[in-house]
Amino acid sequence: MPLITQRPSFAGPTIGALGALLLACTQVAPPPPAAPPVVTVPPPSGKEPNATTELSPLRIGVYLPLSGAEAAFGRETREGIDLAVERAANSGDIRDRSIELVYADDHSHPRDASNAVLDLSKDPTIVAVLGEVASSRSKAGGIVANKLRVPMLTPGSTNPDVTRVGPFVFRACFDDDAQGRAAAQYLIQVRHRKKLGVLWTTDDLYSSSLARTFREEAERLGATVALRGVLRTETNFSAPLGDLQQQRPEVIYAPVYYNVMPAIFQEAAPLGFSGRTFFGGDGWDSDALPKTAGAEGAAFTTHWVIDVPTAENRAFVEAYRARYHRDPSSLAALGYDAAALLLDAMKRASADTREAVRDALASTRGFAGVTGTVTMGEDRNPARDVVVARIEGGRFRFEGRVRSVAGN
Ligand code: PHE
Repeated sequence: MPLITQRPSFAGPTIGALGALLLACTQVAPPPPAAPPVVTVPPPSGKEPNATTELSPLRIGVYLPLSGAEAAFGRETREGIDLAVERAANSGDIRDRSIELVYADDHSHPRDASNAVLDLSKDPTIVAVLGEVASSRSKAGGIVANKLRVPMLTPGSTNPDVTRVGPFVFRACFDDDAQGRAAAQYLIQVRHRKKLGVLWTTDDLYSSSLARTFREEAERLGATVALRGVLRTETNFSAPLGDLQQQRPEVIYAPVYYNVMPAIFQEAAPLGFSGRTFFGGDGWDSDALPKTAGAEGAAFTTHWVIDVPTAENRAFVEAYRARYHRDPSSLAALGYDAAALLLDAMKRASADTREAVRDALASTRGFAGVTGTVTMGEDRNPARDVVVARIEGGRFRFEGRVRSVAGN
């Protein structure tokens, strides 16, 4: 019988909101206020818990931004993870052991991400850790996981540094070397653009490395690239956009997170840049973006869009709608796949130990997920296609796929 628990030490002042979240995704009664919130998922129908089974549950730690600047990433990812674990529980436990999820909130801060992984790792029954979304925090958490020899799988952190941390750190998605190249190849070879601008956040790991890879590939393919960096705290984009405007770019590549784009779209309009001028990366991919004023027509590279035409995806969308009564986001799909991939590895592992789960993750071949098929590479990075999505009618729509080819 799977359990979903919230680590009390990281709930902090947001405990009320997290409690509400937990309640939103369960049918059971709330826990008494003094105790850490615990959610039990009912056992599969027709199968009562076996009173003679004394085996302790297998626990998976999850650290996410459940509050703070990128809380939408945390909430959406969590919904996917919870759904995957519930669905797995309905089709049978792993070697008669139930699965328990233990959540830790890192408040969208790298320091708290390290502490969250440290805290989760102290529990010897936690066999693996899922998280984070943002690369800066996955790198911070990954350093701790690797040192303590706890396998970690990030659903969506794309920065190359994240998995370079060491043999215990994996990702389930493509990396930014592939994503940045795919964006440049798509704009130049498919859309035939030649004059490109780049607007990025200089003090963010994800944004700066994506901007660099994009620029290198674009210049290699013969385009001209005008660059303008801003700080993460920037709120006024008139000056940087004005600088770029002087170079008359046909497209502005903006590899920043979703929460930066509303101000950019707003200040771009008076300068004559419509949504169509902008092209982004997967950091745009949150439910919050498509209805933003000025976003219509913008496109970006990402992992998944709701209308990806595969059987796995259709089954996922149906299950998600039945569970949450609305459409899933990309983060939910990535969270779902990462949790399902980890459960698959735990099933194949030779023992219920951290080392055995690590080895099983490393030997993942042809895992059919909602976001595509995953075969883990030597360097713990799967080679995967990059999806291109566009914002149309206030929604994300599938535009195509790019199989990124390494530059040489
Ligand atoms: N790829 C982003 C990062 O590494 C995180 C992200 C994944 C954001 C998927 C949105 C969707 O920081």
